[in-house]
Amino acid sequence: MRFTFLGHSCVLIETASARLVIDPFLTGNPQAALRAEDLRCTHVLVTHGHEDHIGDALAVSRANQAPIIANHEIAEYLAAQGATTHGMNPGGAHRFAFGRVKLTPAIHSSSIQENGRAIYLGEPCGIVIEADGKRLYHAGDTALFSDLRLVARGGLDLAVLPIGDNYTMGPEDALEALDLLTPRLTVPVHYDTWPVIAADADAFARAAATRGHAVRPLAPGESIDL
Ligand code: NI
Ligand code: MN
Repeated sequence: MRFTFLGHSCVLIETASARLVIDPFLTGNPQAALRAEDLRCTHVLVTHGHEDHIGDALAVSRANQAPIIANHEIAEYLAAQGATTHGMNPGGAHRFAFGRVKLTPAIHSSSIQENGRAIYLGEPCGIVIEADGKRLYHAGDTALFSDLRLVARGGLDLAVLPIGDNYTMGPEDALEALDLLTPRLTVPVHYDTWPVIAADADAFARAAATRGHAVRPLAPGESIDL
């Protein structure tokens, strides 16, 4: 299984049978490792409705004939625009051809601005993916909360955690999240995209190492094999 960081909170997971993109925000993303038009995937997964996560979901889904997996409200919102969707909700899991997806709670918000109004887009989520014998967790934009301990059940091979602060957990809380999640490896995301979420990922990795956690910051476009 290959994991690629595409910038901000967007990642690509290549399994034996699928190419899963999570939070495809590339257009307007200063960190984007490629153009949305060049992204090839079989499924699009979205953690919540904010523009820096839902971003190119509709366009990428259309261009690749890739279904969108997201919470019920996002699924209905995008289905109304012509997308093929699979709606879920936190706590629910579903087995797809490539593996199992479970939505988990996240403490955050979820809406999109249209014509100056916020449209509610359901509960923000994290996503746990089980495929090819690995279990991965993308935390979305969550705050630290103690039930991350529940997300860790069964063990995590990889955690994708925000560290940029302001809108999400920052580095200090992310260290505590690692204590609860105890993943084999963590990739920090959602930082340095804009000045307000600047963070020192290398310092975070060093601090995590002193607590026994492996953290590997990736440059946009960089991949690791799991
Ligand atoms: Ni958000
Ligand atoms: Mn965000």
